[in-house]
Amino acid sequence: MPRIFSGIQPTGNLHLGNYLGAIRNWVTLQADYECIFCIVDLHALTLPQDPTELRHATREVTAAYIAAGIDPERCIIFNQSMVPAHAQLAWLFGCITPLGWLNRMTQFKDKAGKDRETAGLGLYSYPVLMAADILLYRATHVPVGEDQKQHVELARDIAAAFNRRYNTEFFPLPEPQIFGTATRVMSLRDGTKKMSKSDESDFSRINMTDDADAIALKIRRAKTDPLPLPATVEDVATRPEAANLLGIYAALTDETMETVVAHFAGRNFSDFKPALAERAVASLGRIAGEMRRMLADPGYIDGVLRRGAERAEAIAVEHLHLVFDMMGLLRP
Ligand code: TYM
Repeated sequence: MPRIFSGIQPTGNLHLGNYLGAIRNWVTLQADYECIFCIVDLHALTLPQDPTELRHATREVTAAYIAAGIDPERCIIFNQSMVPAHAQLAWLFGCITPLGWLNRMTQFKDKAGKDRETAGLGLYSYPVLMAADILLYRATHVPVGEDQKQHVELARDIAAAFNRRYNTEFFPLPEPQIFGTATRVMSLRDGTKKMSKSDESDFSRINMTDDADAIALKIRRAKTDPLPLPATVEDVATRPEAANLLGIYAALTDETMETVVAHFAGRNFSDFKPALAERAVASLGRIAGEMRRMLADPGYIDGVLRRGAERAEAIAVEHLHLVFDMMGLLRP
């Protein structure tokens, strides 16, 4: 069976983009693939984190996976730092990855900002650790939002470079899987900016833990343009805020953009926004309730992560030792 690996950083607030771009797709994939879903806490450390908040966020992401419908018996759910082979393979890959490949990564440029000299080494080598995450399990498919495509392509390049250097086909070349109408959910305050955990304004995103009132208020306040809703999909393309809200609606209702545009064509945002809020509350409300219930019992969550890490470790160590053999390292 083909194997899936994907992950989310436990940083800040999980939001609608993480849900529609990633988690929701994972729920459907678990029927057809062997799935490994990670909470990538080592990646979180590439920017400063408060230790107490990091621990909480790790449990919160775990709760979100399970509350959204990922079955911890069928899939492996674990946090990255519990399986040391991730960091080990990242070092080995770091030794075969040219700097030029990392210099192309747009996320580093965004996150490091203007002052590249003070950015951490971890932030720079982040995509190498991500390649290690995926390839440690010899995963073939990586379901992600659009913003991670470049990183998955780098993982392919690293896999190919390893295979060439050691004259092997050990690593599959992993495919990014980017699904549906909400592969890039944008900020509610600015339709040209990605919805993000780190945006200062909480009004820019719908958090997975927001209650119905907060969701409705954020959608009511979401930026729009003064025109009625567009009549054709071509018109949508020229109106970023309308495109974003209609795209979210389409994703939440599992309809095509064409159907949603036809339905709301010519209507005012004041008609459309309550309908969108209702859909968002219907999808997220149940998940948020379930997350709160689970977070009241951290023992359960920690148990899931421990069992997941044991199962992940069994696969990871076997593969890592085969890599040791190929590279000329003695096995422990
Ligand atoms: P992260 O934590 O930023 O995001 C987790 C997932 O959510 C998707 N996503 C979005 N999708 C649509 N619209 C948005 N606005 C939006 N924001 C985030 C992301 O594409 C991602 O799928 N580097 C990764 C984590 C990672 C990983 C991995 C992923 C580490 N190792 C191995 C896959 C495989 C990241 O920072 O995702």
